[in-house]
Amino acid sequence: MKKMILFHPDPRLKKICAPVTFITDDLRKIANDMLETMYEAPGIGLAAPQIGFLQRLIVMDCVKEEDADPAPMVMFNPEIIESSQETAVYEEGCLSIPNHYAEVTRPKEVEVKWIDTEGVEQKQWFDGLWSTCVQHEIDHLNGKLFIDYIGVMKRQLITRKMQKFKRELSRKEED
Ligand code: NI
Repeated sequence: MKKMILFHPDPRLKKICAPVTFITDDLRKIANDMLETMYEAPGIGLAAPQIGFLQRLIVMDCVKEEDADPAPMVMFNPEIIESSQETAVYEEGCLSIPNHYAEVTRPKEVEVKWIDTEGVEQKQWFDGLWSTCVQHEIDHLNGKLFIDYIGVMKRQLITRKMQKFKRELSRKEED
């Protein structure tokens, strides 16, 4: 089932999410709903707090080629255990901050460990778009958004535009 995506600014997007204790069918259902919501948006990553669920869960699929098979990933309690010295710059966006983009510098490669949908611990290095995406999504679990990496002026500007966007949206819903 497709979920509503929360838009910045929202206090739920600033919270530190709680670790998942064990993987239940309910959690697997939420992960599937998140993948459906992400693909529909469309986006390449989604973190649980973006649908108002404050637990450590992210989903991703950074396959860009139109004709390639989807490669959905679901991660519970994802954690960066090592980062490369080398950095990379990507123009990032976020489903919670639609139509706003900014360049963010992050470690080029990261090693992440997580628990998969079967409850098994996994560990893998990520590079390129996958690396940017997994770092961006893990940030969400710590109440951090990509705009927290940019200058205060640009951040305030984006936040003001988002406030206006949300006011217009709620006005439309009232009509
Ligand atoms: Ni995001």
